[in-house]
Amino acid sequence: MMTFNEFPPMQEILKYIESNKSRYLDELKELIAIPSISTNPENKGDVVRCAEWISGHLRKIGMQHVEVFSTNGHPIVCAESPRVPGKPTLLLYGHYDVQPVDPLELWTSPPFELTKRGQNIYARGTADDKGQVFIHLKGIEAYIKNMGTLPINLKVIIEGEEEIGSEHLDSFVSAHKELLKADLVLISDTSMFARGVPSVCYGLRGLSYMQVEVTGPNRDLHSGSFGGSVHNPIQALAEIIARLHDKDGRVMIPGFYKDVKVLTPKERAAFKSLPWRDTDYARGLGVRRLHGEKGFTTLERLWVRPTLECNGIWGGFSGEGAKTVLPSKAYAKISMRLVPNQSSAKIARLFETHIKKIAPPTVQVKMTFLHGGEPALTPVESPGVRAAAAALEKGFGKKPIYQREGGSIPIVVDFKRILGLDTVLLGFGLPDENAHAPDEFMSLDNFFGGIRTAVHFYNELPGFMKNGHKK
Ligand code: BES
Ligand code: MN
Ligand code: MN
Repeated sequence: MMTFNEFPPMQEILKYIESNKSRYLDELKELIAIPSISTNPENKGDVVRCAEWISGHLRKIGMQHVEVFSTNGHPIVCAESPRVPGKPTLLLYGHYDVQPVDPLELWTSPPFELTKRGQNIYARGTADDKGQVFIHLKGIEAYIKNMGTLPINLKVIIEGEEEIGSEHLDSFVSAHKELLKADLVLISDTSMFARGVPSVCYGLRGLSYMQVEVTGPNRDLHSGSFGGSVHNPIQALAEIIARLHDKDGRVMIPGFYKDVKVLTPKERAAFKSLPWRDTDYARGLGVRRLHGEKGFTTLERLWVRPTLECNGIWGGFSGEGAKTVLPSKAYAKISMRLVPNQSSAKIARLFETHIKKIAPPTVQVKMTFLHGGEPALTPVESPGVRAAAAALEKGFGKKPIYQREGGSIPIVVDFKRILGLDTVLLGFGLPDENAHAPDEFMSLDNFFGGIRTAVHFYNELPGFMKNGHKK
C-alpha cells in the first residue's frame, strides 16, 4: 500500500522503498546472520563483527561521523546525518545484540538464517531489535538517496548490551552529552497492539532482577541417610516463593505497592476501548484460564500494575533418570516489573528485607541484585508523539491506537535524566512475535510499513516541533 497524495519528493521516496524491497531483505539477511548474542562470551567476536557491519552500513546509506566506540563491554555505534541547519535533532536509539537461541530444537528454521514463511520473516533479532533498527536504516537510505539529506538532523546510537542490562550505556551517554545532544529520542523496540493495528507506546515497566541462593547443609547429602534430619534448601526456597503472592495474586512484600501511581479513570476507559478479548488471549497462549492480581483487567495487569515473577529455579539433580540427593544449595532468579513511581533500588531493598524475614531459620539465604531499570512514561501530547501518530497513519493507512507495554527499556529514563530528553516509542513488533523465544519473527507488512512510517516521521517531525499543537 502506498500513499500517493504526498508532495512529489515523498512520492519518489516511497516509490524507491517499493522498488527496493527484495534488496532490503537480502541485506537484513546478512545482518541477521551475525549471531550477536551479548550474554555469551563465545560470541564476543560476533558482537564486534555486528557493530562493524552496522557502522559499514551506516556509511553506505549516507550517514556521517560513523564511529564504533569500544566500552568495557560491547561496542556502541554512533553516526550523524548530513547537517541541516534550523531543523530539529532526533536521537535514534536501538540495539544490535540479541538473546540466546536455546532451545534450538524448537526452531522451525535455523535461528540465524532469515527465512520467509507466509507473511512473516523468521530469525533471532527480526523483531528484537535488528529488524526494527534496519527499518530505520532503510528509511534513512531512501530519504538520503532521493533528497541528498534527511529533513531533520538525525543522530544514531546503537548498542550491543541491551539484552544484558545496558551496563555501559549510561556512563557512555554521560560522557558524550555533546555528541548526543538532541531534541528528542526515538526508539523502535516495542510492539504494535495487534496485527494491522498501528500503535504508539507511551509507557514501559521498570525492572528489579534478583538472584536468591539458599544454602542448607554444607555439602550434598545422601537423601536416604540424611533425609528427614535437615531442611532441604529446594523445599525451603519453594516455601519462600510460595509466600510471595496471596490468593488474590497480590505481591506480599510489605510496601511493594506503596509508590504505585493509581490508574486514572480516563486511562482505564482508554484501555477498555481497545480491541481485546481475554478468551482469545488465553487461547493464543494455550492456558485454560488467565491469572493475576484481582481487581484489574488483563491490560491493566500487563501495563500499569507491578508484578513478581520467578524466572528460573534450580538445584539438586535435574539430569536424565534419578539420583537420590539432598542438595546443599537451591537457587531462583526472581524479577519484578515496576510501574511509575516505583524505584528499582527501593523495591530491591524491600525484597531483600522481606525474604530475610520470611526465610526459615534452617537455611541461609544470599541475595544478589542482577540488574534494574526504572519505569518510563512519555507525555502523549508531546510533539514527538503527535508526529509519530501522524507518521503511522500515513505509513499504515490507519489511525494508530495508544498503548503502554509491559516490557522494559531502562535507557529511556536515563535519556531523560542525563540528556533531558523525552522518548517516542514507535514499535513495529507484534505481541506474538516470539521475542526471546524460538521462531521469533517480524511481519513483512510491519517491516515495510515501518520503513514508510520512518520516512514519514522524519518528514513530519519539523512541523510538529515548530508548532506543538499542529493537528
Ligand atoms: N525490546 C525489549 C523491550 C520490550 C519488550 C518493550 C516488550 C516492550 C515490550 C528489550 O529488548 C528487552 O527485552 N528488555 C528487557 C529488559 C532488559 C533490562 C534486559 C526486558 O524487558 O526484559
Ligand atoms: Mn529490544
Ligand atoms: Mn529483548
